Amino acid sequence: MNPFHYGSIVRGKSFFDRKEECERIVKTLSGGNNIVLYAPRRFGKTSLIFSAIEQLEAQGFCCIYFDFMPVFSPESFVRLYAKALSGKQSNLQKFVQIFISTVKNIRPVLSFDSEGSPEFSIDFANSSVNELVVSQLLDMPEKLVGTNRRALIFFDEFQEVEKLSSINFESLLRSKIQQQQKTNYLFLGSKTHIMKELFNNNKRAFYNAALPMSISYLPEDETIEYLQRGFAGSSIRLDAEIARHIISITSMIPHYIQQLAAEIWQYAVNSRDLVTKKIVDECSMHLLAHKSDYYMELFDRQSQSRKQLLQALTKSGKNIFSISYIKAFHLPSAATLQRAAQGLVRDGIIDKINDEYFISDPFFKLFVEQT
Ligand SMILES: Nc1ncnc2c1ncn2[C@@H]1O[C@H](COP(=O)(O)OP(=O)(O)OP(=O)(O)O)[C@@H](O)[C@H]1O
Ligand SMILES: [Mg+2]
Repeated sequence: MNPFHYGSIVRGKSFFDRKEECERIVKTLSGGNNIVLYAPRRFGKTSLIFSAIEQLEAQGFCCIYFDFMPVFSPESFVRLYAKALSGKQSNLQKFVQIFISTVKNIRPVLSFDSEGSPEFSIDFANSSVNELVVSQLLDMPEKLVGTNRRALIFFDEFQEVEKLSSINFESLLRSKIQQQQKTNYLFLGSKTHIMKELFNNNKRAFYNAALPMSISYLPEDETIEYLQRGFAGSSIRLDAEIARHIISITSMIPHYIQQLAAEIWQYAVNSRDLVTKKIVDECSMHLLAHKSDYYMELFDRQSQSRKQLLQALTKSGKNIFSISYIKAFHLPSAATLQRAAQGLVRDGIIDKINDEYFISDPFFKLFVEQT
């Protein structure tokens, strides 16, 4: 089995470090505060949340994880959120009773699957989803926990909440956050610029509604040890210097570190030898080749100023609107550059951390470098 994993939540031995961040999340939520968690794409937000949930559940909190990505309408929110709430209940019959007395205009259905296990669903036949229904549904966690427990709600991909603007979801949830005594929320999302707009703009409902927290890169030493451990398990040697090379090619982004390591492991597992720089470079070229058609099309589609900025970003992402940066890379005016940068961030092609811009996909970065 490949010891490296990417593309989904990592747990257990595949999840390393983030102890301090996890502790901060656990303390803040158990202390009764809300959090908004910022980090660029693929830095490990969701995995970190699952690790915090494990600890919080062990402390007796009722934790509900909800992914907004599949939500496309108020009906789908109601259906999916009710399902997520029901998924945490050991006694579905009791859940249905609480549901009926809380969400008045929606009919819950309790059926049995082929193995005889009870299943919860909703019948929208004679009802429509409006603000009142959503408001009542948002009160469900408070009702479910009873008097002694507290509920913690984890809203992932929360930027998608914009799809619910027809029912004023933002203001509705904001007022719930203020009223609810036994429920706290953690918000996270992969589109940081929209999340910041939602929580930092004083004209928006969530302004100051949650404590901001961010996660950054995984520390280099722990990453090197993690990589060496993974390879050593299959008797493959990885020197620290080569591990550093893997980290550098992948711009230190956790997802891509694991992806490249998985590719190298696949390559090296039969020979069980030493990982060399040549092998690392070959494997990264292999990963790039898989997506080169897509990268070519993506690059072609960009305006001239965006292309110029992307090329400059392969060299440096610091102070990109400064005169010296513009001069060094023969870039257009600062105003044009601002527009190019904003557009690239909006499209998820570049991102920013600690005031430094970078190309989100390091293999696309390699592609741009070669173009
Ligand atoms: N602490 C960690 N230890 C090891 N690998 C990690 C860690 N965090 C993240 N990864 C790697 O990064 C990948 C992405 O993690 P995850 O899905 O949690 O990130 P995310 O920030 O939620 O991503 P997205 O922005 O796409 O929602 C994982 O599949 C794993 O390969
Ligand atoms: Mg995620």
